Amino acid sequence: MEKNLNFEKIINRNGTNCLKYDFKSERNRPEDVLPLWVADMDFQTSSYVIEALIKTSKHGIFGYSEAKDEYFEAVSKWMKVHHDWTIKKEWLVKTPGVVFALAIAIKAFSKRGDSILIQEPVYYPFSEVIRNNDRVVVSNDLFLGSDGKYHVNFKDFEEKIKKNNVKLFILCSPHNPVGRVWTKDELVKMGDICLKYGVLVVSDEIHNDFAFDKKHIIFSSIKKEYENNSIICTSPSKTFNIASMLISNIFISNKKNRIKFQKEYEATGMSQLSIFGIIATQVAYEKGEIWYEAMIDYIKENILFTKEFVKKNLPNVSVIDSEGTYLLWLDFRKTGLEMEKLDKKIIFDAKLWLDSGKIFGKSGIGFQRINVACPRAVLKKALNNISEAMKNC
Ligand SMILES: Cc1ncc(COP(=O)(O)O)c(C=O)c1O
Repeated sequence: MEKNLNFEKIINRNGTNCLKYDFKSERNRPEDVLPLWVADMDFQTSSYVIEALIKTSKHGIFGYSEAKDEYFEAVSKWMKVHHDWTIKKEWLVKTPGVVFALAIAIKAFSKRGDSILIQEPVYYPFSEVIRNNDRVVVSNDLFLGSDGKYHVNFKDFEEKIKKNNVKLFILCSPHNPVGRVWTKDELVKMGDICLKYGVLVVSDEIHNDFAFDKKHIIFSSIKKEYENNSIICTSPSKTFNIASMLISNIFISNKKNRIKFQKEYEATGMSQLSIFGIIATQVAYEKGEIWYEAMIDYIKENILFTKEFVKKNLPNVSVIDSEGTYLLWLDFRKTGLEMEKLDKKIIFDAKLWLDSGKIFGKSGIGFQRINVACPRAVLKKALNNISEAMKNC
């Protein structure tokens, strides 16, 4: 029986080596801030996963390990049931993380000095991993529509590709931080332009299990041509809160591309992954359904709670309409506060550790990202703190 269904329980994460709570001074934050930044959850994962990891620990021999057929079957079933996506075993390449896979794809499919397309404001490691590999960031900035949601400027998308001779596009789907779950029409528009100009699509779908009112569509499942022209990055890490297990499932159906990717991967010297990641993934996908469904319901309520709170108490702040992920994008531009002042207000007056909008690209100026995957009492306190700090703004 699933035992971890109480998401209201506040679990002390201090002193557990966790990035979110334990590295305040190292990251120039005061000791008294409440952290709602990095994308992990303050919930314990499924009790089935914990029990399986205890069993593995107790065995006490931690030699080299690999995934058996049951691993693939568990992943495959999850993808079929949740995303109506049929995968083949030979497509799968397991890597120690999605950002690691992005770096490998950048190295395998572009050269130094090449331009790579992203859509800012976006998860900041996209630009970091591009620049760290001596490639050039080109952004097709998303724009905020009158419907309160972000949209793609397709004309600019095509022009940026043409002008900069882009060969690689890193799609964030669902999009962190703006919370969009892309429609089929949007994906097709982007996908067709990429086909037209020979741009390979690296689709980061790590948040694919967090689509709330509409279905997430796996990019490569739309058309055979997209299947041949994409790398789909998935992971159980967000879904089951197991990021430190360092495992992700990357799907490359195009054999030539897969071989290229694998060659670059092997060049890193990395071979087998940790037994803990393999076990956690398999068990999560096999037995984590009940935990997952309950967690999603709780997150949905937290999102609703945040929207209502902000509407009632923060007249100059708005929550960008979110269709997916547990990260909310807060618009503070109406307060008129400059970015540095806003950041300071959040840290020193509201006593919160959020992610400043500026790290997501220039178009993130005036925004903050808040992670609502925490017990409601914690979220309530964080929102109250913002409301107090913003009294005169
Ligand atoms: C869009 C996106 N991609 C990748 C990651 C991180 O993936 P990993 O820890 O597997 O490198 C995150 C984490 O927040 C994310 O939001």
